[in-house]
Amino acid sequence: MSLPKTADAAYQKCINPDCAAEFDCGQAIFKCPACGELLDIRYNWDKIEVPAKLSDFGKRWANRKNPLDFSGVWRFRELINFCEDKYKVTIGEGQTILQQNDLVAKYVDMKQGCLYLQYEGLNPSGSFKDNGMAAAFSHAKMVGVNSCACASTGNTSASMALYAHSCGMKSIVFIGSGRIAFGKLSQAMDYGAKTIQIRGDFDDCMRLVQAVCTKLGLYLLNSLNPFRLEGQKTIMYRIIEGMGWTVPDWIIVPGGNLGNSSAFGKAFYELRQLGLIERIPRMAIINATGADTLTDLVNKKKMLWNNGKVDQKIIDDYYADLTARNFSPHTCASAIEISRPVNLKKCLRAIDICNGVVRAVTDEEICDAKAIVGKYGLGCEPASAATIAGLKHLRAEGIISADEQVACVLTGHPLKDPNVTVNYHKEKQGEFSNPPVEAPNDLDEIIKLIK
Ligand code: F0G
Repeated sequence: MSLPKTADAAYQKCINPDCAAEFDCGQAIFKCPACGELLDIRYNWDKIEVPAKLSDFGKRWANRKNPLDFSGVWRFRELINFCEDKYKVTIGEGQTILQQNDLVAKYVDMKQGCLYLQYEGLNPSGSFKDNGMAAAFSHAKMVGVNSCACASTGNTSASMALYAHSCGMKSIVFIGSGRIAFGKLSQAMDYGAKTIQIRGDFDDCMRLVQAVCTKLGLYLLNSLNPFRLEGQKTIMYRIIEGMGWTVPDWIIVPGGNLGNSSAFGKAFYELRQLGLIERIPRMAIINATGADTLTDLVNKKKMLWNNGKVDQKIIDDYYADLTARNFSPHTCASAIEISRPVNLKKCLRAIDICNGVVRAVTDEEICDAKAIVGKYGLGCEPASAATIAGLKHLRAEGIISADEQVACVLTGHPLKDPNVTVNYHKEKQGEFSNPPVEAPNDLDEIIKLIK
């Protein structure tokens, strides 16, 4: 399959319908220079030779010695066609699996055969971020970048640092001091990023990194970067692939900076536009109660996408109140400890596309759900388990039926945050705690304990 020169095939477009300014993909701008809104990557589909059916992408497995066919991102390259092959970056991301899990299904009161878990923790840096970084670093290479930066609750920094060193670029990460799980911090340092711990939370870091990138001309790798979201669309393609090229009834995803939910909505919209799927699944986005801006705005303030005419005053008033109260978000799911999500508007669009719902779950519910994924599945980090806790709510409310097909996106690996896991089990913090037993240094006593 030949891909056309991307100048014809893809462009950037402001999501604000009153602006709708367009820019070519050769620019690294991250926000609309005209009005400051978010940017989308758009495609001229008539100029791209997209396979006639999704299963055609699966045939690329036969050619997996080609790194682009092996990549779980670039295998779907016609659907993210913004750069030529010579710029495409891959380190083997996207070899993740969709597991049907009946024991976890039982915990959330779903019927056997209905619950699927998408393990994005199996990516090279241990989280879903690698999907987005493969795409964004390709763009960075295309525009000739040598230094990049991000703000992070941990996984973005780990993933960016890994891709940066494999592309020979310098990377700088901004993290909130004491707000990042140890596994993630260890990766950023080990992969050679300059790590700056700021006395503040993620939202402070996000604000500062944008200012620093503008001042110093660094390439920004947060999900504000629309090229990242293009890579994250492939998580949905792989779920469809894992289900034999069929679409589930529901996708459940944790909500932090709202990049994933935004990307997933765009993925389904485009697939239907291209006639590659017939229906779009519903989506549930799950916040932690200590960081539940989206839940408040959607469920209490009734915020809507409204064809792009989002009521900015509701957002401004909400954020002004957070500032007045000196509010800082707090949850044990540190990955989603965010109160000013940058992709809020794109997420509202995704909710519109997918007839989405939003819920918030407590830390206790997250930790119990995480223990269940650990006990019966391959494990995950706390933020990922919010999906299972959220599904339990939606089952109890009757919004999701027991016989619908549900896919939960488990965004990060269990070893990302060993502290939360060890505390839960050792300190007997929950229903499913499995504490270690102290034993004397004595064979008979040990055997007594095992019997
Ligand atoms: N799950 C995990 C494990 C994450 O690391 C994140 C975000 C999310 C869920 C939320 O995803 O932002 O697309 O809604 N982590 C970012 C970071 C913020 O800096 O690593 P989102």
